Amino acid sequence: MYWDEAYKGRPPWDIDYPQPTFQALIKNGEIKPGRALDVGCGRGENAIMLAKSGCEVTGIDLVKDAIADANIKAIERRVKVNFVVGNVLQMDRLFIEGEFDIIIDSGLFHVMTDEERLVFAWQVHRVLKTGGKYFMLCFSDKEPAGYGPRRVSKAEIEKTFTPLFKIIYIKDTTLDSRFGPSSRKAYLLSAVKR
Ligand SMILES: C[S@@+](CC[C@H](N)C(=O)[O-])C[C@H]1O[C@@H](n2cnc3c(N)ncnc32)[C@H](O)[C@@H]1O
Repeated sequence: MYWDEAYKGRPPWDIDYPQPTFQALIKNGEIKPGRALDVGCGRGENAIMLAKSGCEVTGIDLVKDAIADANIKAIERRVKVNFVVGNVLQMDRLFIEGEFDIIIDSGLFHVMTDEERLVFAWQVHRVLKTGGKYFMLCFSDKEPAGYGPRRVSKAEIEKTFTPLFKIIYIKDTTLDSRFGPSSRKAYLLSAVKR
């Protein structure tokens, strides 16, 4: 599978620190301590940051090796995170309805097909509490075409999430990658479960 192969090395998104956009959400109080889920958590930097900020965190990813590495990091940094191997399109089999206050998504939504997006939005909605927050960081259509995942437009984000969520904002931001800090133009979605 593509994702298993990617983690045999150092994929471009696999930076050794949390995404600054999420760090800022903790600093400015938009993310507060609570039960948090990091969907497509990879090697766990963002999940570990949430745990350090006082959240009770679960991270989920398809790739066993990435989850194993995330577990080692958490132990080394003396932080407790519940890392699980699983498919975000089947979270209803893994988590209780309304289990989480916060869900973060760093680069997962933008890898999904149109069909997967709809299932994913439903799954995120199901495992969030009513009033719970979903923060999603994806490549924006302002990033020139070429290497990397599909570019996502604001209209596509609205179309996917508006039926189930109240959209608070979709902001221009950047993603750090192994190509450097702020190397990719991105959108940050803040949405609340209706
Ligand atoms: C672009 S990477 C981002 C990883 C991580 N969030 C980060 O910022 O380093 C996307 C991640 O989503 C995971 N992924 C893709 N499809 C998934 C699915 N259906 N269920 C769970 N994880 C998935 C991949 O294995 C990969 O780790």
